Amino acid sequence: MTGIPVFLSAEKHHILIVGATSAAMAKLGLFSATPARISVIAPGASAAVKEAGLDAATTGHTGLSIIDRAFAEDDLVGKTLVYIATDDQFAEERALRLANGRGLPVNVVDQPAKSNFTTPAQFARGPIQVAFSSGGAAPVFVRRLRSSLEKLLPPSLGTVAAAAGTARDRVKNLIPDATRRRLFWDRLFDNAGQYADLAEADVERLIVDAARNHRMGATSGQVQLVGAGPGDPDLLTIKAHRALQQADVIVYDNLVSRDVLALARRDADLVFVGKREGDHGIGQDGINKLIVERALAGQRVVRLKGGDPLLFARAGEELAALRAHDVHVEVIPGISAFQGIAATTQIPLTDREYSSSLTLVTGHLKDGSYKDWARLAGEGRTLAVYMGVKNAGSISAGLIGEGVPAKTPVAVVENGTRATERRFYGTLEGLADLVQQNSVKSPALLLIGDVVRNAADLNIADRADLLATA
Ligand SMILES: C[S@@+](CC[C@H](N)C(=O)[O-])C[C@H]1O[C@@H](n2cnc3c(N)ncnc32)[C@H](O)[C@@H]1O
Repeated sequence: MTGIPVFLSAEKHHILIVGATSAAMAKLGLFSATPARISVIAPGASAAVKEAGLDAATTGHTGLSIIDRAFAEDDLVGKTLVYIATDDQFAEERALRLANGRGLPVNVVDQPAKSNFTTPAQFARGPIQVAFSSGGAAPVFVRRLRSSLEKLLPPSLGTVAAAAGTARDRVKNLIPDATRRRLFWDRLFDNAGQYADLAEADVERLIVDAARNHRMGATSGQVQLVGAGPGDPDLLTIKAHRALQQADVIVYDNLVSRDVLALARRDADLVFVGKREGDHGIGQDGINKLIVERALAGQRVVRLKGGDPLLFARAGEELAALRAHDVHVEVIPGISAFQGIAATTQIPLTDREYSSSLTLVTGHLKDGSYKDWARLAGEGRTLAVYMGVKNAGSISAGLIGEGVPAKTPVAVVENGTRATERRFYGTLEGLADLVQQNSVKSPALLLIGDVVRNAADLNIADRADLLATA
């Protein structure tokens, strides 16, 4: 770490800005939002400040002095922070030399090599201030980081944070237990969106009411059933990301990608409950018991599931177990495999010409067969088969046997949205061979229907083949 991050108490500082350039005005704009005293010194400073709409009459800043002349040594007296942003080379060098001579923190804007401190990229949500720096090494990355965090922290959080500060002592009296109080605040900030557009006093009243109810409520923690998406961590929802960052324990299985797990809070307890070769894991009953127990112990539990938690994910059993024990549950949806794969293959799942319906089925069939294949696929329909790799042969035979055209296009996509994604195309009659010859492994999804012809990576010849065979 080459920088020392500190937050200076603005009201105790007097900032000198040497220059009237647009960079100087940007600094003035930044600090005008604080109670720091600010002096701007440069020929033409008044006109520049007025033009930028940063004069005291416009901003209401009471500690602003604007001096329309060249910088002089005495201007440094009483200043605690110096910014130099002037076009005048001579003035820049002189101000820098004199400020350094006095041991003052000095920043020559956009010239880190000449400065002894830098101003971080930043944003604020009420009393919460977030600042970032890469020490000038990767400003684009820092900007991206800021923008991702800005999205994670909704603007309403500022009002909630301010109201939370005022209500803090009352909440402490209402919920004296520190763990329960942390849970209360976590839940409150999670749902900051519901306070959007409310005045701070109203939010404060609601917070105290919520604390009163929380005191009277169950002592349990909570469980969030969270969709991890198909693998690409960028497909995680902002809410899911936040849940991963706040969890005490994350209960996950095979389908959750490493990249998604890497986003978990560093000291969260990661519990794998999937199956590994030769080991069947703790089973569904074991998982139900585990999440109930952890929640009743007051922990924030994330039950992380691949794709969407409510699709082919045995969520019903987990929800029933949690409800039976009165545990607070929240479901955070995820991008399901069919959506992620539609995006990577660029196959529109419905299409004015080819398909007006989409059916999702599991290919993991107890007796290997559906009763009514003909209703699942065929002309004008798209079928997505989850867990269908092992039964690809019986699925294709079942569909063809009930009249679905043997030449219906199919796509088989393994590890969809991950760096290891593989895509194969063919026809329904060749589905089993397609899977076998390419040694397709789980997780893989089968897409069956005329829409497959629209896949982006089918070359013209392949597409013509599929059209010809249809
Ligand atoms: C138990 S189901 C879970 C489905 C998940 N809840 C969802 O919404 O995507 C597992 C099946 O989902 C499909 N699947 C999940 N992730 C996948 C991926 N990244 N690529 C291809 N198929 C995937 C496969 O068919 C896999 O066998």
